[in-house]
Amino acid sequence: MIDYLDKAARLIRESGFTVAFTGAGISVESGIPPFRGKNGLWSRYDPKVLDLDYFYSNPHDSWVKIKEIFYDFFGKAQPNPGHIALAGLEQKGWLKSVVTQNIDNLHQEAGSKTVWEFHGSSQWVVCPRCGARHFATEIDMSELPPRCHEDGSVLKPDFIFFGEGIPREAYDQSFAAARKAEVMLVIGTTGEVMPASMVPYEAARSGATIIEINPETTPFTNQITHIFLEGKAGEVLPELLQRVSQLIVD
Ligand code: APR
Repeated sequence: MIDYLDKAARLIRESGFTVAFTGAGISVESGIPPFRGKNGLWSRYDPKVLDLDYFYSNPHDSWVKIKEIFYDFFGKAQPNPGHIALAGLEQKGWLKSVVTQNIDNLHQEAGSKTVWEFHGSSQWVVCPRCGARHFATEIDMSELPPRCHEDGSVLKPDFIFFGEGIPREAYDQSFAAARKAEVMLVIGTTGEVMPASMVPYEAARSGATIIEINPETTPFTNQITHIFLEGKAGEVLPELLQRVSQLIVD
């Protein structure tokens, strides 16, 4: 009986360049629901609140929902053992970087140093007119929408809305990491959103071994995944870190 966890651990230990690609699933055990699926955010909220045109034509309504989801709710979340195990792999030199679709800053709070935020971050809000950037916690959200002190424009969270381009550096660094990867961990994502979902395909095309961690199969599983570790990120990743650490490599 092949022990896939052991096999995955050996591949990571022998790899010269391992990258993790994460989605909403890694933050589920921190109390943040995924976007899709039965109890997903999009089953409770209309995704139009994150549509750029809708945001600019309905700033108050959009901000009321955005505050509820991404600040009142997300703001209380803490990193879980899954985030912490990835930071541990990086600290030991067995992981080069994390490419994340998440905007919750939990990888950084867990201690990860190299994190490419493909969809931006909820930590900051920006003025679309003068470009002023503010820490979200410094903004008074008692009156919505929050406005720029300089020019009174509606402030926008510094994460990517549907219909908005990907931050240049995060895009370039994410695909560069994918092309260099010998191993890519694909964790907690359905891969339904482009162009983010192209990152694992780019890694596979460049010869990387794909190790997927998810309690359910995804479109990646039958197309590019080499090792599928069925389970929750907060349970599988600490186990994987332990196995990598215990391995004796000649
Ligand atoms: N551990 C690992 N994976 C999990 C866990 C868990 N504890 N719980 C759920 N999952 C998996 C689900 O099975 C699903 O495959 O996480 C995945 C979550 O998928 P989505 O909700 O589609 O999230 P994601 O792929 O990150 O969405 C991509 O869509 O709405 C946009 O911008 C948003 O970045 C987001 C993008």
